[in-house]
Amino acid sequence: MSQDAEKSTAKLSKVEKKLNLLKKRAHLIFRNIDCVKLFNRILKKTPDEILATITESGLRGRGGAGFPTGMKWKAALEAPGAVKYVICNADEGEPGTFKDRVILERQPDKIIVGMATCAYVTKATEGYIYMRGEYNFMSKEIKACCEKWNDLFEKKDFPFRVSLRLGSGAYICGEETALIESMSGNRGEPRLRPPFPVSEGFNDMPTVVNNVETLAYVTMIMDDGLDFFKSVAKDDSMGGKVFSVSGDAAIKGVFELPLGMTVQEFVDIFGDGDTKAVQVGGFSGLCVPRKHFATTIIGYRGVQTGGSMILYNSTRSMYLVLKNYLEFFQEESCGQCAPCRIGCQQLLLGIEAMRQGTRPLSHIDKLRELVNVMGVASKCKLGMSLANPFNSITEHFFEEICSKW
Ligand SMILES: Cc1cc2nc3c(=O)[nH]c(=O)nc-3n(C[C@H](O)[C@H](O)[C@H](O)COP(=O)(O)O)c2cc1C
Repeated sequence: MSQDAEKSTAKLSKVEKKLNLLKKRAHLIFRNIDCVKLFNRILKKTPDEILATITESGLRGRGGAGFPTGMKWKAALEAPGAVKYVICNADEGEPGTFKDRVILERQPDKIIVGMATCAYVTKATEGYIYMRGEYNFMSKEIKACCEKWNDLFEKKDFPFRVSLRLGSGAYICGEETALIESMSGNRGEPRLRPPFPVSEGFNDMPTVVNNVETLAYVTMIMDDGLDFFKSVAKDDSMGGKVFSVSGDAAIKGVFELPLGMTVQEFVDIFGDGDTKAVQVGGFSGLCVPRKHFATTIIGYRGVQTGGSMILYNSTRSMYLVLKNYLEFFQEESCGQCAPCRIGCQQLLLGIEAMRQGTRPLSHIDKLRELVNVMGVASKCKLGMSLANPFNSITEHFFEEICSKW
C-alpha cells in the first residue's frame, strides 16, 4: 500500500471510530421500528397527551426555520376550519441538502406515522406529501406506502388519508406558502404572511406544514420517549439532526448527529485537514471561516441549519463560490417582489464588476446596503436570507472576492 493510501485508510478508520461514538448518542431516525405497533400505542393516548409530549420535547422544525413543532400544532388545532390538512414538505431544494431524500427512501413509514400523529392532534383529515419533482424515481414506493397506511387507517376508523403530490423543480416551492399555491394549481409564489398556513393554508383552511425530518422525529419521540430525545443534543437545542455533508469533505453523505456540536468538532470528523470554511445551512445559510470554527455552535442556540454542511478547502475560490450562490438565487427568485428580483441580479453584477475592476472595491458598501434592504423588504425568506451568505463570505474572504485568484 502506498503512503498516501495508508494515510487515508488511517484517517477513515479514525473518522469511523468518532462516528460510531456519536451514533450511540443519536441513532433515532434510521433505526427500524414496528411502526404499526407504535401507531396502535399512539392511538391509546389522548391527543392532548401527545401535544403535551411534543411540546415538552422541545422539537423544532428541521426544515430550516426551527419553529417549535408543538406550538405549530396547537395553533392549527385551535384555528377554526371545516377541514384541516397536514402537509409533509419533501421539496428539499436547498443546494447541498439531500437528507430528506434518504429519510424518504429508508423510513417512509415514520413520516406517515408522524403525519397521522399530527392529524390526530390537530383533527386534520387529509395529508399530502409534497415531494420535489426530481425525486419522482421513488414515487411508486411512496404511493404504495400511502396506500398501505390508508388501508390501515380505514380498518381502524381513523379519519385520515394521505397521498403524494409532486413539485416541478422550483426551489421557491419549498417555502410553505408557495408550496400551498403550487399544490392548488397556481404559480409557486409565496403569500404575504400573516395569515400563516396554520390558520389559512391549503384551500384557505388550517394547515400544518412540517419537514420530512421533523415528522420522522415526532415518530421517534413517540417511540423512544421524551427523555431519550432530550438527552441526545450536546447543548440545549434538543435532539439530533440529520446532516447532508458535501464539498471538500473526507467523507460525504447523510449522518445523524447530536445538535450542539461546534463547527470545529464537525470539521474534525468530516474535514480533509485543510478546511478553510464551512457553509452551514445551504446556500442561504452562513459561511463560517476557520477562525470561528471553535466558537460556533451548530444548533438553535448557535447557527441554525436545515442540515446542509458544505466544506471548502484552500483550493476553492470563495469568489466563485459566492458567484455560484448568486447565480442560483437569481435563477430561482420567483420574481414576484422587486427587492429580490432586482437585488439578486444586482448583487451578482456587483461582485463581477468589482472583480473586473469596473467598480471600485468600495462598491461592496453599496452591495451590503442592498442585501440588508433585501433582508427587510423582500416578500419571503428567499430574498431575506441572502444577507447570510453574502455578508459572511464578503466579510471573511474579501481579498478572494477582489483578487484575480
Ligand atoms: C426559499 C425557501 C425554500 C424552502 N425549502 C424548504 C424545503 O425544501 N423543505 C422544508 O422542509 N422547508 C423548506 N423551507 C421552509 C418552509 O417554508 C417551512 O418553514 C418548513 O417546511 C416548516 O417545516 P418545519 O417546521 O418542520 O421545519 C423553505 C423556505 C424558503 C424560504
